Amino acid sequence: MRIYAAYSHKGGTGKTTSLVLLANAIAARGHSALLLDSDPQQNFRMWRNYGRQMEVWDENLTVEYRDYETTPVMELEDFLVNANDSGKYDYALLNLPGIPHRFNQHALRYAELTLLPFRPTPAELAEMGPALNAIEKLKDDGEVGAARVLFTMIKAESKIPEVWRDYMSEARRRFPCMETIIRDSTIFSDILMRGTLHLNIKKNNGLGKYEVSKALEICDALLTECEAIVAQHEEENS
Ligand SMILES: Nc1ncnc2c1ncn2[C@@H]1O[C@H](COP(=O)(O)OP(=O)(O)OP(=O)(O)O)[C@@H](O)[C@H]1O
Ligand SMILES: [Mg+2]
Repeated sequence: MRIYAAYSHKGGTGKTTSLVLLANAIAARGHSALLLDSDPQQNFRMWRNYGRQMEVWDENLTVEYRDYETTPVMELEDFLVNANDSGKYDYALLNLPGIPHRFNQHALRYAELTLLPFRPTPAELAEMGPALNAIEKLKDDGEVGAARVLFTMIKAESKIPEVWRDYMSEARRRFPCMETIIRDSTIFSDILMRGTLHLNIKKNNGLGKYEVSKALEICDALLTECEAIVAQHEEENS
């Protein structure tokens, strides 16, 4: 079971959305995933409920909730070990709340890849340093898998403000970044309302088939890049 997490010290950077994109790609490939909400918002559960209402939920995706404030880290470890041993899941995706909390830092120790979603604005840049430091610290301790900055909510190329480009360059200088970037688009902002995209396409249920299939292509590109990063990381550390 491969474990991916999304992490930041700030809310609203696109963590949940990034993981939902990955879950879409996993389901579309016919694989299974355990989606762990540890944030009381329970966005994975919300997504599942919308999907079931619209009959476009893929039952290969299982949602569980373990609150970050009340779940001891040992219990998290048992939970992940049992999930792995059950053989039921190809992936586990950890949806962590956007705050510096020891539950999050602990959860990252299990992730083979941590995505650090980053919208290159001044407020987010200020929070980026501490989040990167937390990862660096785990890396120094040899306790973390690969980690990559994922640029999210990026405007069309011609519309990216000059200052954002500077922030993106700075992030690239300081930390490995993903090649896949997530555009600023309504399809991504309301993707939680749509259920699994491949079933939307199959059902042809009037949600803008072209837009949905384009979004699914980006989900798949993101997953492909994640797999490549993990494979490279494993090779470097073997
Ligand atoms: N690529 C995008 N384009 C436009 N809107 C987006 C995009 N990605 C995310 N959003 C929107 O931005 C908001 C924050 O995204 P999301 O919930 O994924 O962030 P988060 O980091 O999980 O937040 P939290 O820390 O609160 O859990 C949501 O309303 C989401 O729909
Ligand atoms: Mg979230």
